[in-house]
Amino acid sequence: MDSIGSYKKRITQELSEKINLTLREAELEAQFIMQHVLKESSSNLIIKKNEIVLKKDIANIENIIRQRLDDLPLPYILKEWDFYGHTFRISKDTLIPRQDSELLIDIILQKYDLNSPLEILDLGTGSGIIGITLAKNFKKSNVLLADISIKAIKVAKKNIEANYLQNIHYVHSNWFENVDNTMFDIIVSNPPYISKEDPHLKQPELIKQPQVALVSDDEGLQDIKVIVGNASGYLRKMGILLIEHGYNQANKVKQIFTDNKFNQIEQHKDINNKIRVTVGVKI
Ligand SMILES: C[S@@+](CC[C@H](N)C(=O)[O-])C[C@H]1O[C@@H](n2cnc3c(N)ncnc32)[C@H](O)[C@@H]1O
Repeated sequence: MDSIGSYKKRITQELSEKINLTLREAELEAQFIMQHVLKESSSNLIIKKNEIVLKKDIANIENIIRQRLDDLPLPYILKEWDFYGHTFRISKDTLIPRQDSELLIDIILQKYDLNSPLEILDLGTGSGIIGITLAKNFKKSNVLLADISIKAIKVAKKNIEANYLQNIHYVHSNWFENVDNTMFDIIVSNPPYISKEDPHLKQPELIKQPQVALVSDDEGLQDIKVIVGNASGYLRKMGILLIEHGYNQANKVKQIFTDNKFNQIEQHKDINNKIRVTVGVKI
């Protein structure tokens, strides 16, 4: 019979040996798995490290490990993942929340007072992480989530309900098509921006994620062009548009903003010092 501490070490070793994970990645995954199954915080796992793991929990953990060794990304097995300090429900029909996208939230939090009564649109919302995080922070604002995937919208709806939010709505829409005539202060989007030819798409983590969430024509820029090209018609004066994009698309995305008469264009770097978000103001 294993203690929590030694069992965690054992599954870390198994994950690092059998799938292509660094020891650090395997440690983190083992930590998430233990927290998820034992329903304990990371600090409690340390406090309880000498307690024995129950048989029923071992069965659940082994089941997760089996799926993980089959190359299914851990967030899809656990059906939840963290974004901006909160846990969100996800499914195979939604993108796995990425830490990179937290930059969008940081920028908006720097620009606006939390009491601002804003109209916010999250285009390509997926599981709803961006719009819901904004709705939780800007309590006097209204947030609209839009996505072309009905299955993603259903996941976003569950996340809205789990957070008891009243200031948020959703719409099934091909970009702006079904967005009514509200004028927004903020339009934010993490659209698909990977080129069809990008070899990264063959990586096991990406291959299992919905292609509609990842891939865009025209070297990955087609959806960005549609969004930037139409956003002005839905923005109030001084309203802002924020787009997350690939690290190698900064110049082209800036040009798209300029071509569409956006002003005060800013570009923001992620923790790896790569430009990943472009922001423009409608004057
Ligand atoms: C990169 S994912 C981002 C998901 C989520 N916002 C996040 O950051 O995790 C892009 C999202 O755009 C949606 N999408 C793709 N094409 C779309 C379109 N034409 N209209 C609306 N949404 C679209 C996908 O279904 C997917 O949920």
